[in-house]
Amino acid sequence: MTLVHPPLVAAMVDGIETEGPTVASTNPARLGETVAEVRLGGPGVLVAAARVARSAQRRWADVPAPVRGTVIGNFGRLVEDNADALARLVTNEIGKPLAEARGEVQEIIDTCRFFLGEGRRLYGETVPSEMPDKQLFTFREPVGVMMVITAGNFPVAVPSWYLVPALLCGNAVVWKPAEYAAACAGALTELALHAGLPPGVLSMVPADGAVTAAGLAQALEAGVVDKVGFTGSTAVGRQIGALCGRYLQTPCLELGGKNPMVVAPDADIDLAVEGALFGGFGTAGQRCTSLGTLIVHESVYTGFRRRFATAVQNAAIGDPTHAVLYGPLLDARFAAGYERHLDQIRDHHTTFGSTAVGRIGAAAPRRGFVGDPAEGLYYHPVVVDGVRPDDELFGEETFGPIVGLMTYRDLDEAIELANAPGYGLSSAIYTNDPSTVFRFRRGIRAGMVSVNNSTSGAEAHLPFGGNGRSGNGSRQSGRWVLDQVTRWQAVNWDYSGRLQKAQLDTAIPDADLTFRLRP
Ligand code: UN1
Repeated sequence: MTLVHPPLVAAMVDGIETEGPTVASTNPARLGETVAEVRLGGPGVLVAAARVARSAQRRWADVPAPVRGTVIGNFGRLVEDNADALARLVTNEIGKPLAEARGEVQEIIDTCRFFLGEGRRLYGETVPSEMPDKQLFTFREPVGVMMVITAGNFPVAVPSWYLVPALLCGNAVVWKPAEYAAACAGALTELALHAGLPPGVLSMVPADGAVTAAGLAQALEAGVVDKVGFTGSTAVGRQIGALCGRYLQTPCLELGGKNPMVVAPDADIDLAVEGALFGGFGTAGQRCTSLGTLIVHESVYTGFRRRFATAVQNAAIGDPTHAVLYGPLLDARFAAGYERHLDQIRDHHTTFGSTAVGRIGAAAPRRGFVGDPAEGLYYHPVVVDGVRPDDELFGEETFGPIVGLMTYRDLDEAIELANAPGYGLSSAIYTNDPSTVFRFRRGIRAGMVSVNNSTSGAEAHLPFGGNGRSGNGSRQSGRWVLDQVTRWQAVNWDYSGRLQKAQLDTAIPDADLTFRLRP
């Protein structure tokens, strides 16, 4: 018999070895399978990694941006050439269906392709001066050392949204991934380091939440972190925002969502059902862009409800290595959190979508389940009908395969309901009426609006981010993220040979402003 030992994932910091006990990262689809042993770092490791980053950053920033772009291009190629292995690891470690895991890996490749070219742009501007013989310029400068703290629902794509632009712009990065997705983090870090990044420019430190908070506080106090990027819950985002504020820093925060989907009277109902199914139950509802509440016009409610019920009941759920809509929840902690949300279903609600609510098992089987539900953290999909604005379920992100359903009478009411929970990440409307689209777009406070498309599945080069409880207005992806990972430097260069004082010495030609045309 051969004993297969799971690989060990420990902090990857140039020149630093870490010791200590390990925790197991398990496959949520097969709880008996350990994907990796993870050696968690203490606060000191995070601080040490930030110090290493601090000393490596200046030299990395001196590498010409187009050359840094080539390194990013190589990273993208390595991800592409290892796409299958990386996608399988994502599926094994966090239970995302393989097709989605492949999409996630593609998102990294797309991000690298976009920023490879940015290395040859990274434009500043030449700006006219109000003085003769003087020229003004703007330059983008790297922020310095960035600490990136990410969730495990997108264990490689979302981190790449920070890592790729930050590194391209000449920053050094300390990445703290979710501990239950540490094997994915180790693999992505390996690929990045093999792409030609100099030592110390990228570190990865698995750590738990409490240690991360302590390590970040110490690193900020020591002055070795200049910017924080965080994707995770609104509650933790608040704490990070408060902490960074003490050091006059504005973190890049990508937080929760309670993403609404409005189905207007003229909507293509089949299309809306398809979008609701993917938005609500793709990734088992564990995207920050997952559909929270369906707000359906009362005139189409009955038909929508019937077709949606059929679609949810018939959806294939189970083993994520097969063609399923969704697999297990991310890990035990998320399953426990999700069960607390199921307790918020009240007597005035009716539920549909499956044969039971809660964990799928022998006592509560799911028709057509793919595989053996006893092996993993599998949950029934549930649609909660009759949701009211004062329900906890209406107001809070639920992070699991649960969708609320309610009706509306006019568009103003739909917009009010869509905004009411106070998040503002993603939103969707199904309609073919331009005035409905533009009234919704103006009224909704979300950072992202889909028209005749699901709440989730944003393309990798549009600004991604939210408002209100979903974030502090920062945006990721595309050229918009450059404002997170660089700072503008304004330069004025006077070559007149004398002191020309702005505003005071500006020579303005005389004008006769009393002049009027003769009638
Ligand atoms: C997340 O859940 O944190 O738009 C990100 C989407 C994906 C990204 C989700 N491209 O659903």
